[in-house]
Amino acid sequence: MAGQLSIIRPDDWHLHLRDGVMLKAVAPASAMHFARAMIMPNLVPPITDVESAHQYRARILEATKGHDFNPYMTLYLTEDMSPGTIRAAAKDAHLLAVKLYPAGATTNSASGVRDIARVMPILELMAELGLPLAIHGEVVDDAVDIFDREKVFIETQLEPLRRALPDLRVVLEHITTKDAVDYVGASDKNLGATITAHHLLITRNHILAGGIRPHYYCLPVAKRETHRQALVAAATSGNPRYFFGSDSAPHSDTAKLAPCGCAGIFTAPVAMACLAEIFDSENALDRLEGFTSIHGAEFYGLPLNESRITLRRNDAQASLPLPLDIGGERVVAFDPTRPLYWSVEHEHGHDG
Ligand code: NCD
Ligand code: ZN
Repeated sequence: MAGQLSIIRPDDWHLHLRDGVMLKAVAPASAMHFARAMIMPNLVPPITDVESAHQYRARILEATKGHDFNPYMTLYLTEDMSPGTIRAAAKDAHLLAVKLYPAGATTNSASGVRDIARVMPILELMAELGLPLAIHGEVVDDAVDIFDREKVFIETQLEPLRRALPDLRVVLEHITTKDAVDYVGASDKNLGATITAHHLLITRNHILAGGIRPHYYCLPVAKRETHRQALVAAATSGNPRYFFGSDSAPHSDTAKLAPCGCAGIFTAPVAMACLAEIFDSENALDRLEGFTSIHGAEFYGLPLNESRITLRRNDAQASLPLPLDIGGERVVAFDPTRPLYWSVEHEHGHDG
């Protein structure tokens, strides 16, 4: 059945744009649909100071020239981050948050935090200055099963941290479990969570049943169906704690289809179409705008975008994005598990 929906132009509060030729090739897909994005700092080497963040931002603006796209930057938290850097970041209009990667948790996280105790003075300062902390919430411990790493992080790291620093504003990024949904839903303040499009669609079966499918592999890894259902319920609930962050994370097929393949799913080209499908199938299209265009901006204290987009449900299936050819390397976009019928159209207007 055809249909259409006009919403405030969406934002993506968790995005990997990479650098160099990859940045040039992938950034337009985000800039086309999203007005703003929070850009992850896990380059090699990572973005750990305000000056590098500004230079990276300039490269993103160059790669998205001609689009109305405002990238907000993040700093990568290391154990030797200085208070001066945090003070500079808190004053900077283009810097939105500091990202905590437990060392070894995911792609390019080697220089992350081994022991949260060592960054407590920095986190205290962030709480005092109102600078949010975005967290990759998984423990790195060989003794902990990979499917339990988010739940164990919440119990052993996040809850003690939030008890010690109740004023610290925290975003638990790309949540994948009912445990995370329940934890965020039960908290009274200063805690939000991003949810990706792919975690609303896939389970671990997509990765592992009937053959191994690296293009569905990301971190945190997709969990079982009960968790997916909890995520769908959270995203479509209207609760302002949950907002959209794609975690679109492109890798070449050379990196993904390897004996030790990279984690990360490139979803930017289809993210809005996937979300429209999901919200439509839940009879919750009226709550899509909150999830993609309102809750995140409110969490970060930013104005809502002024322009709008129209989502249109077509009778015919939309064609899937073709793989990108980036300097001879193939980058495959997310392959949704059900056909996409929604497309995105732009309405006139300008966002600052
Ligand atoms: C991300 C990447 O490739 O940079 N990968 C992923 O699986 N999501 C890093 C991250 O956000 O964990
Ligand atoms: Zn990410």
